Amino acid sequence: MTPAQDLAPFVERRQRFADAVGDGLAVIPGAREVLRNGDVSYEFRQDSDFFFLTGFEEPDAVAVINPSHAKERYVLFVRPRDREREIWNGRRAGVEGAVADYGADAAYPIDELDRRLREYILDRPSLVYRLGNPAFDGRITRLLAEGRAARSRGQVTPATIEDPGPIVHEMRLRRSPGELARQRRACEISREAHAEAMRYARPGQYEYQVQAALEFVFRAHGSPRTGYPSIVASGPNACILHYTENRRRMADGDLLLIDAGCEWEYHTADITRTFPVNGRFTGPQRAIYELVLRAQAAGLVAVRPGHRLEAVHDAVRRVLTEGLVELGLLPRGVADSLAMHHYREFYPHGTSHWLGMDVHDVGDYRIRRVSRPLEAGMVLTVEPGLYVDPERETATFALREYSEDEMWERRYRLGATAAKQLEEEERARAGTIVHAIPREFRGIGVRIEDDVLVTAYGGEVLTAGTPKTVDEVERICAEPPRLPR
Ligand code: GLY
Ligand code: MN
Ligand code: MN
Repeated sequence: MTPAQDLAPFVERRQRFADAVGDGLAVIPGAREVLRNGDVSYEFRQDSDFFFLTGFEEPDAVAVINPSHAKERYVLFVRPRDREREIWNGRRAGVEGAVADYGADAAYPIDELDRRLREYILDRPSLVYRLGNPAFDGRITRLLAEGRAARSRGQVTPATIEDPGPIVHEMRLRRSPGELARQRRACEISREAHAEAMRYARPGQYEYQVQAALEFVFRAHGSPRTGYPSIVASGPNACILHYTENRRRMADGDLLLIDAGCEWEYHTADITRTFPVNGRFTGPQRAIYELVLRAQAAGLVAVRPGHRLEAVHDAVRRVLTEGLVELGLLPRGVADSLAMHHYREFYPHGTSHWLGMDVHDVGDYRIRRVSRPLEAGMVLTVEPGLYVDPERETATFALREYSEDEMWERRYRLGATAAKQLEEEERARAGTIVHAIPREFRGIGVRIEDDVLVTAYGGEVLTAGTPKTVDEVERICAEPPRLPR
């Protein structure tokens, strides 16, 4: 059971959702508890779409939104009160609480779901349900089959099934003031935690010790959990994009890349900082770091309402390419390197993703295959990086020019597998060039990531104040930690 919360935002969201559902019937399952072993479950976290519409945090619940029902327009199916189960596993709202505290018009024990759905589908021409939920799809197909039988007897039952994803996800993509306040709080706490990690780290520690300091700050501020597993990657581990083992012993001279953010009331931050474990960048580390920093600054400037999301990535890859050419890491000049996308050898990921209730948040990135324009209220990351393989003395670059838009178009027309094969063939035909990677850069991995709100005027960096320039980073690394070590 959650503490008392303001129901108004949930009422408003359900109303907007109900308007889109029209005369259909929407069935929205929450997350289930997943057994880890014996009678112990993995940590439970409610499904974001379900929480967005209900505010209900318990497992094994289902929401039904039935806008044309005379009385029961919003129904919650929940685990009933059960004294013994509650003594073992915690309090339950039960059907009484679902109505009294969560604003449901009616609530029933979860066991009654199938029976009641059979009644609810009558006179509803469409079912709004997100297929692809292995634990639930079977129930829905059985329900639809029963509905078909009823149709043959002359009754109206759902003949179409619609995905609620796009409706809810477009709503989640644009932040209300209340949602934004939560997002800001997640960013603020995460900023404090990154600063403490910089003070705390020193050579000889293990990555998990810095992780403990970072996550202590999250938790001590009341954050219930991280938004995703913390990446605490020292030395060559920084070149593994989603490294989460966090158990290497850090050496003098290493960089430490930390990509971590806490969750605050179902909103997550996503910050990456990279800093020297001993507090001082070496020359090559600094050269790569400052290049990524310049690229990020260019990306941040490109965040503007009306600009396409792709403009952010374009700005970043141009600066990275210019710098990589200057540092001798690419075999050709800037124009060829961009046209042939050679920066991808060192920068294999995109620059941005939506950020909100989930770290890689929902919402389409392209509309009719074209990169979508940014709008005030959207929140995205800007996270360039460079990762130089610790082991390879040379890199091989394909001499093939291509446009990413054409690749998208092709994937759409031919399907991913055929498009990929065609790309492989083109690459083989174009030939390659082998280029030596200067030794001093090998094994350096740097990513700098901030969270940005699109405003009417440009981008507002929600994670501003997290030390970032070389001076700021070296200064905070020299401060004593606030936590004991
Ligand atoms: N933390 C995952 C990401 O930055 O995308
Ligand atoms: Mn990110
Ligand atoms: Mn990240």
